[in-house]
Amino acid sequence: METAEQLGHVEQAETLFTIHQIHHVEMYVGNAKQAAYYYRRGFGFKWVGYQGPETGVRDRVSYLLEQGKIHLVLTKPLDPESPIAEHIQKHGDSVRDIAFDVDDAAEAYQITTERGAEGVAEPHEESDDHGTVKRSIIKTYGDTVHSFIETKDYNGFFLPNFEQREDNLAEPVGFKHIDHIVGNVDWDQMEETVNFYRNIFGFRRFVSFDDKDISTEHSALRSTVVANENLWIKFPINEPAEGLRKSQIEEYVQFHQGPGVQHIAIECEDIVETIDQLRKNGIEFIHVPETYYHDMEERAGDIHEPVEELQRLNILVDKDDKGYMLQIFTKPVEDRPTLFFEFIQRRGGESFGKGNFKALFEAIERDQAARGNL
Ligand code: FE2
Repeated sequence: METAEQLGHVEQAETLFTIHQIHHVEMYVGNAKQAAYYYRRGFGFKWVGYQGPETGVRDRVSYLLEQGKIHLVLTKPLDPESPIAEHIQKHGDSVRDIAFDVDDAAEAYQITTERGAEGVAEPHEESDDHGTVKRSIIKTYGDTVHSFIETKDYNGFFLPNFEQREDNLAEPVGFKHIDHIVGNVDWDQMEETVNFYRNIFGFRRFVSFDDKDISTEHSALRSTVVANENLWIKFPINEPAEGLRKSQIEEYVQFHQGPGVQHIAIECEDIVETIDQLRKNGIEFIHVPETYYHDMEERAGDIHEPVEELQRLNILVDKDDKGYMLQIFTKPVEDRPTLFFEFIQRRGGESFGKGNFKALFEAIERDQAARGNL
């Protein structure tokens, strides 16, 4: 169980410039049309916007999907020589951009690059009939980037050149917003990445786990969560650690050909209803054994959800001194064992599921063994 000290308030975050929220997450994928169908039918995202040759964009096609406050953009290149195609060739379907909604894209770029961030695109304007968006882009771990997006002079529904779409296919499953996005980095890169977010963004170290938190029988990792001042943005950063088995983070970095986003955690309105529906939709989850539920009431204490329901759906519970949280992880959504999703519901608990690491790692190791990667 995490203590109050472990849960933060050790470090004050500093507001260097205003970030309102995550504007969207963009994935580069090999076939955006088919990926969109998967996220619509599987996860219940509504298809709400599109850009491509029909909207005057020649080099790519993007599908904008929405559920709750989450905006997911799936982009496929039309030119096999483009950097987008290279990204897909190297990493498979993978997150490219965690874009921030900011007050001032030029200011965000100036502050972060002066503090050492590497620029990808200087502040520039993107316009259509609905106005102008200002945007700049910096690099973070691996080939992942952060766009800074300023929309105060824009009246369109999303970004320039996107046309609205109506979706009659997707049935939303109760997603609310992104709780956290996890980055996997290579051996001994965690501190550097954590310090990047502390120095460049003024984020604070929120909570850390080391290999002592995780039994050495298991595929170990170290993790530190960085967060902004109001905790709306939480980025755990994982690195491999020595264990008896190959670290699951090392396996990721090998298959992804470098650091990248490991999972996106989504807060749900009612996780029992959400997972029930996702299972009906054919989404596959990591499986923990029945024995996990045997001492559940002892471990978790008074919980609102019936244990039989949690067991039926294989939802995990983790407790801290502020309450508890429910969580479950999908299997990878790519053929490479790279990106996956987590669904959570916080009932006071601020943890990231440390109490479940052992049960989860055992489950992940069974899948790693099946892939021959122990
Ligand atoms: Fe997570």
